[in-house]
Amino acid sequence: MCGIVGYVGESKAAPLLLDGLRALEYRGYDSAGAALMEDGAFTIVRRAGRVEQLSEPLAQLHSAAKIGIAHTRWATHGAPTEINAHPHISADGRWAVVHNGIIENADALRAELETLGIAFDSETDTEIIPQLLGRVSGFEDAEQGTPLDVLLDVLPLLEGSWALGILCANAPDKLLCACQGSPLLVGEGEDGLYLASDYAAFGENVHKVYRMTDGEIGVLTRDGAAFYDSRGQALTKPAEEFSHREQGGGKGSYTHFMRKEIDEQPLAVSRTLEQFFGGALHAAAAGDFRLPCQLPHSPRKVWLVACGSAYHACVSGKYVIEELARIPCEAVVASEFRYQYPLIGEEDLAVFVSQSGETADTLAAVREASARGAATLGVVNVAGSAIARACDAVLPTLAGAEIAVATTKAYSAQLAVLYALALHFAKEQAHEEPEFEEALRRLPESIQAALSTEDAAKAAAEQIAGADHAYFIGRNLDYAAALEGSLKLKEISYLHSEAYPAGELKHGTISLIEAGTPVIALACCERLLPKTAANIREVAARGARVFAVCARGNGEHWGTDSVISLQATHPLLMPSVEVIPLQLLSYHVARIRGCDIDKPKNLAKSVTVE
Ligand code: G6P
Repeated sequence: MCGIVGYVGESKAAPLLLDGLRALEYRGYDSAGAALMEDGAFTIVRRAGRVEQLSEPLAQLHSAAKIGIAHTRWATHGAPTEINAHPHISADGRWAVVHNGIIENADALRAELETLGIAFDSETDTEIIPQLLGRVSGFEDAEQGTPLDVLLDVLPLLEGSWALGILCANAPDKLLCACQGSPLLVGEGEDGLYLASDYAAFGENVHKVYRMTDGEIGVLTRDGAAFYDSRGQALTKPAEEFSHREQGGGKGSYTHFMRKEIDEQPLAVSRTLEQFFGGALHAAAAGDFRLPCQLPHSPRKVWLVACGSAYHACVSGKYVIEELARIPCEAVVASEFRYQYPLIGEEDLAVFVSQSGETADTLAAVREASARGAATLGVVNVAGSAIARACDAVLPTLAGAEIAVATTKAYSAQLAVLYALALHFAKEQAHEEPEFEEALRRLPESIQAALSTEDAAKAAAEQIAGADHAYFIGRNLDYAAALEGSLKLKEISYLHSEAYPAGELKHGTISLIEAGTPVIALACCERLLPKTAANIREVAARGARVFAVCARGNGEHWGTDSVISLQATHPLLMPSVEVIPLQLLSYHVARIRGCDIDKPKNLAKSVTVE
């Protein structure tokens, strides 16, 4: 989602800002812009569309400016147009602002300022900030105090969340920043100070990082950074050592990060599981299974809370925890959890699953569960992220940096952690599960074997790519996998698809099945095979083209058009195996349809607004 970059120092700002924006592209955005300040005058360049469109106009400026801010915007208030792109400028032309987050009382503040005669250029909530800065600093002619004083007056007027990068024409050597509920980092480099909403934006120059916390303000100059609390008192902040690594290790020989990350899944899962087995999964020295963090003993109920694909991992996790450990478990979408007055309390464990560790709804759900007294556990891929810091305990997924917007390897690592959690609770209840445990150790191999379904998935993709609609069906854990398969297909190929519990289709959606409608039927859940086979026959009888995903040579005689065969593992681990051909299917459908696979339109990797 939105990204912030800023710089003040000895070097020319424009190329550094552009590099930072390029590094943040993976988060998802739909417009971009930059403001450079030279001799107290701003030059602003903004474009709807890709960061690359800023490259030429910025180069043509030949600007020697050594201070600037830049932004990638994911539209919330107002369309993704050039006018709505950041930076936004105050009516008096003295303040330029980039902003991540949402100003919730923007409408009321805007109405007040408009009655004072201030004209707004954009439809954004962000523009309220420069306009307020301009207005407050304008109260007292030229002697209005420092930009820090003005900012200290304006921030208490705002409600919502923000990470801000601010320039003031009256203070041509200062880059101001502030944060509340949205991440912001200050990097110290050899040639100056860098501002960013994400570590990924920092290049090789940066060797120390200050992480800002809620309510803090920073004033950055070429000589160093000064930090203040919300009352303007100076703070001493510790810095973390930082060394740049290329994000995701680059694409190598792959055309897309997504395809590379699909292949990285055995490694992501094996690294993640090693934490539970004291080292390499099969080495003679491998230890017994143990949880690498403290959790409350046998909770009354386990809540699994997340968004998007992470929620789908939770749906699988619910089936596995209930079946293996016999503890009641509920999987809930975070944006629903936080407003449903959840009946959660001190005897419960709430698990929050998130690749980025930044998702606004998931973070708010952690706070809701904590306020209600539940123990909280984060399952996150980004160490030190907001969700990791907000939870009582953390079980990391060790998938490495994931760059494609559509998650693959982080999702697989999330499933692995949830299986391990289920095993932990089963053991606590004295249910020994040796077959499950051994299959879990071998899960990376099972996932590796599933990668050999690529040709079959590609063949199915060729038949599906021209369709307007597709349906995914399955029962129990196959249904959980269907949810993820359907989301993957629609998010990267823009082909409309829906996932249904196989037995539920006939209660309405079957009316949409016509001759040739693709139905992807997941039939790996052995104990329910006859039931799923009957549902496959029902749709085949109505003309659907059925692509079945099955284990152990099943599926040939159920009226299917084609069968993708998988090697079986423990039935409770099959979601990790069957998702592989579904990811490959989506990838190839999107490729055939000519879609922007790594950066699908309208989507963001880190969803930092509600
Ligand atoms: C976005 C991403 C999804 C992801 C979801 C939750 O929608 O595009 O791939 O599953 O956010 O993100 P999280 O970082 O919390 O796992």
